[in-house]
Amino acid sequence: MPATPRPLLVLALASALALTACSAAEPDPPTAGPTAPADARLRDAAPEGLLVGAAVAGGGHHVDADYPDPFPNDEPYRELLASEFSSLTPENQLKWEFVHPERDRYEFGAADAIVAFAEEHGQAVRGHTLLWHSQNPDWLTEGEFSDAELRDILHEHISTVVGRYAGRIAEWDVANEIFDDSGALRSENLWILRLGEGIVADAFRWAHEADPDARLFLNDYGMESGGPKADAYLALVKELLAEGVPVGGVGFQGHLAFEYSAPGGMADNLRRFVDLGLAVAVTEADVRMPVDGTPTNAQLTQQAEWFGELLEGCLDAGHCTSFTLWGAPDRYSWVPVFFPSQGAATPWWDDLSRKPAYDTLWGILDAR
Ligand code: XIL
Repeated sequence: MPATPRPLLVLALASALALTACSAAEPDPPTAGPTAPADARLRDAAPEGLLVGAAVAGGGHHVDADYPDPFPNDEPYRELLASEFSSLTPENQLKWEFVHPERDRYEFGAADAIVAFAEEHGQAVRGHTLLWHSQNPDWLTEGEFSDAELRDILHEHISTVVGRYAGRIAEWDVANEIFDDSGALRSENLWILRLGEGIVADAFRWAHEADPDARLFLNDYGMESGGPKADAYLALVKELLAEGVPVGGVGFQGHLAFEYSAPGGMADNLRRFVDLGLAVAVTEADVRMPVDGTPTNAQLTQQAEWFGELLEGCLDAGHCTSFTLWGAPDRYSWVPVFFPSQGAATPWWDDLSRKPAYDTLWGILDAR
C-alpha cells in the first residue's frame, strides 16, 4: 500500500484535531440527562396528558423479513410494548392493503388483536391511516371505478373501519402525507387526483360520523421545523376549521436523518397549530444514521439529542397529546429496508437493551 503523502496526512490530522477540539468545546447538550434506572419505564415517567407510543410491528416490510410476524410471536417484544408504552399504533395493520385486501373483504384479525392487547394493558390506540397515496391494494388502484364509485368506496371504508373501533381507537390519522415538500397537494394521491381537494374534508366528516369521540389528525413528515409543507397544513387547517370540518390535530411524523438537519424551531412551528385549538403529536419518531457495523458513540449521542429535541419540541408547543416511536428495537425498524446503508434508528438495540436515546427521552419525561 503506498504511504499517505505527507501534506495529505498533515491535513487529515489537522482536521481530525479541529473536529475533536470543536466537539470538546461544545457545551453539554441541554437534553443530555441522567441514565435511566433499570426499572424506569417511559410510560410511567411521562407527564400527565402525554401518551408515549410505539408502532406495533407487522405487515408492510415485515412480510418479507426472515423472522416470524413480530407482534403475535415475539414475547420479549410484547413485554417491551406493554411495559414502556401508553399508546400503540398498528404500523401497517390498518392500512388499506392490509385491512381491505379485496373489495368485499376486510381483514381485521391483526388490528383486533392489537386493540385487545392495548385494552388489556391500559393503552390508547392511534389508527393509521384512512386516506393515503401509498399501500393501497391493487383492486383499488387498478380498478376502473367512476368518481362516484370511488367516493362510495372511501366512504364505506371509513365508516366500516372507524365504526368497528368506535370508542376504542382514540386518534385517527385520517389523511396522511397529502402535501409534497413544496406545499403542493401530491399528484400521486388517488383520492385527491380523482375527487379533488374537498375529499379530505369529507374523509374527516365520515370519520367523525363513525366515531364522534375520536380525535382526527392530518399527518406528515419533514415539517417539524416549519417550511412550505407546514405552511400548507396551516392554511388547510384554517380552511377546514372555518368550514366546521372536525379536524382535531396535526401529527408530525419525526423521521429524522443525520444527512438532514436537527428539528430546530419545532415548538414555535407546532404552536401555530395549537393556537388554532388543535392538538399536536409526534407520530412516527425515529433517527436514522449511516451504519457500517456498530454506531459510534458520537452518533449515539447525536441521536439521543435529536430524539430529545423532537420530544421537547412537542411538549413545549403546549398541547402535545402523544409521542410515538416508529419501531423498536432496531431489527424491526423500516429504516434499513427503505434507506440502504442506514439504520440503528430506534432507542433500543436488537437485544432490547437501551441506547443513550432512551436515557435522554426518559430524562426529559421524568423532569416534566
Ligand atoms: C412504513 C412501515 O413502517 C413499513 O413497514 C411499510 O413497509 C411502509 O410504511 N410514513 C408513514 C408510515 O406514514 O405509514 C410508514 O410506515 C413510514 C413513513
